Amino acid sequence: MIVAAPQPKANMGEPVPRLDARLKVTGEARYAADVPLSNPAYAFLVLSPIAKGHVVSFDLSEARAVPGVLEILTHENTANEVRPTKFFGQGGRASTTIQPLSSPQIWHDGQIIAMVVANTFEGAREAAYKVKANCQAEPASATFDSPGTKIEAAADVSKELKDPQVGDAEGAFADAEIQIDAEYGTPTQHHNPIELFATACAWTDDELTIYEPSQFIHGLKHEIAEQLGISPSRVRARSHYVGGAFGSKGGVTSRTALVAIAAKRVNRPVKLVMTRDQGFTMTTYRAETRHRIRLGAAPDGKITSYIHEGFEVTSRPDAYFVAGTRNCTHLYSFQNVASKVSIVRADRNTPGFMRSPPEVPYIFALETAMDELAVALSMDPVELRRVNDTMHEPIKGLPFTSRSLMKCFDEAARAFGWQMRAPASMRDGDWRVGWGCAMAVYPSQMAPAAARVTLDRGGRARVEIAAHEIGNGAYTVIGQIAAERLGLPLRNVHVELGDSALPPGPIAGGSITTASSCNAVAAACDNIRERLFHGVAMANDGPLAGADTDSLDLTDGRVVSAQGAEDIATVFDRLGAGVIEEYVEWVPPGGAADSVQALNNGHTRMVRAERKENVAYAFGAEFVEVRIHAMTGEIRVPRIVGAFAAGRLMNTRTAHSQYVGGMIWGIGSALHEATEIDEKRARYVNDNLADYLVPVNADIDQLEAILVSEEDTQVNPLGIKGLGELANVGTAAAISNAVFNATGKRIRQLPIRIEDMLDV
Ligand code: MOS
Repeated sequence: MIVAAPQPKANMGEPVPRLDARLKVTGEARYAADVPLSNPAYAFLVLSPIAKGHVVSFDLSEARAVPGVLEILTHENTANEVRPTKFFGQGGRASTTIQPLSSPQIWHDGQIIAMVVANTFEGAREAAYKVKANCQAEPASATFDSPGTKIEAAADVSKELKDPQVGDAEGAFADAEIQIDAEYGTPTQHHNPIELFATACAWTDDELTIYEPSQFIHGLKHEIAEQLGISPSRVRARSHYVGGAFGSKGGVTSRTALVAIAAKRVNRPVKLVMTRDQGFTMTTYRAETRHRIRLGAAPDGKITSYIHEGFEVTSRPDAYFVAGTRNCTHLYSFQNVASKVSIVRADRNTPGFMRSPPEVPYIFALETAMDELAVALSMDPVELRRVNDTMHEPIKGLPFTSRSLMKCFDEAARAFGWQMRAPASMRDGDWRVGWGCAMAVYPSQMAPAAARVTLDRGGRARVEIAAHEIGNGAYTVIGQIAAERLGLPLRNVHVELGDSALPPGPIAGGSITTASSCNAVAAACDNIRERLFHGVAMANDGPLAGADTDSLDLTDGRVVSAQGAEDIATVFDRLGAGVIEEYVEWVPPGGAADSVQALNNGHTRMVRAERKENVAYAFGAEFVEVRIHAMTGEIRVPRIVGAFAAGRLMNTRTAHSQYVGGMIWGIGSALHEATEIDEKRARYVNDNLADYLVPVNADIDQLEAILVSEEDTQVNPLGIKGLGELANVGTAAAISNAVFNATGKRIRQLPIRIEDMLDV
């Protein structure tokens, strides 16, 4: 049972239902693979059966004999057609620099080695199965501890990272009266969006249109233009709805350029829909991590030392890492801090962003260690957080723009009934019962965004921005801010998203969409307001002539003030305008000088949590009850309560829905999700939704998300913090802490499974 969203409080937007809700439930919303194309051909991928080595030769005779086969792309006929690409982690846009058909080399299991194009999907699939590839395999390194892996300091391979530290953490740890020293681990996970990874490419003369679910269509457009060596003005990327992405559709994968090349060769639109298992290797994933954490504390609970060493797996050529230490080290009043992130290169496809990429693994480790410290101190875990709460981050001493961590802990604790908690295991019949809690946190980030708003004399507005509807409610909140600023009913606002022909929006990643898009749209609306206000104030006649523009407002299609009102149609007449159009390029506070130019070239210059004068984070607290069956070890989560504060909420319904989805995801992270790797062959084993477990309805019982009101005047003009990736952070730690409370056994490796409970 999911507890319904409470009524909005101060600083919270109306719970307007999603503008696209009806389209989605009726199937009218068109996803990339649904777009009708004229006379399309179909592509099917042939993937490498080995993780390392090269293709020696192909036998394509049987494949070519399948009726309706039009073309088979291999490195033998495609090698020089895609230009080298740059990894997004090094300032490019590609999710990997591995370019499958550029050479016979095989970098990872399930790499594309051929693409078959045929008149029908079935024909392409049959022919793909009949492609015979003679591959020469070499020993492949799968993961941590595999022979042949290479470990490097992340700070050595990327100038972007400086491992945060302050004071003498080693010395303070050695001197600490209470010491925690433990290792934690998180597994490989795959996003598994329900919408499969699809790409359709259609050429009209020399213009390419790409239909692909994307979290960054301007990036996709520019990257494909670059890879194909054509002008970006000849490429259009469209993605009006995305059926789940969670990071997996943010970077450009190697499939897209190949589909475009295929479409050119067969002179027809070509559509590719990857199978579920192909998505495991041809896109990104959350890499497995390891952590060693040392916490030193005084008997009063003050943390004198925090040392966090993180290890993350990446691919051979690309140094992907998330380095959650950049945020973890800011979160409590640590007196001394040391941190270091290392990457471990293996023969794997390149990992990438997956929902709360740094926070999910690093906060699991930190918040479990915090619980271990509370136990060592015989202190209530909420009180330990209170003792170490702070309004200034400890590394540089910068203030938080706002911080409601303890308010979240207190509200969630009250709703949960935490004061009734027993310090050790409770029992209910055959079930051991335990309670646990942890912090949720997500950096409040933003990026530049352009937007065009057009208002007509009838009081109808059109909002255009290449932002992305990825299930986040983007159409709705962007419409809401325009309606609010222009004083119009929401039904009078038309929102256009998801087309690279629109003004560029940033990547829909890092939970930046609402803060970035809404601030850009608000700025465009404010320019329109100013033009209207100027029109009435400068007029020779009319009820508002000579008015101070600061005293004016826009409501219900009229310019109003205490002295009177005028319809906007009349104002349009005064201005001699048919429509009023405003195009803005909004740069967030602290945005880089080149960020608009970068935006127009398909790059997102993110303003991260740590800014010049302050740091910006959204916080939350989650409390869970677990029940573990004394005989079978079955683990249930009958109850979870989360309280979250993320500045101004544009829409309490969509915010609540993000929190609910996030906590369910968190339960999955704790108890279900893990991609198993065959360590000998460096291949994924459970690459399907029967074997890759996610929580289902039967796994979720009582779930409550509390919206804590918070006003932030520093974070950005509208006071919006990102919240999409907040509520799935900390859930796994809260569950592992509850498991300890129930059983006395500390589980430091996710997911927690029945087999971990057999000896308790
Ligand atoms: Mo999210 S992993 O930043 O798409």
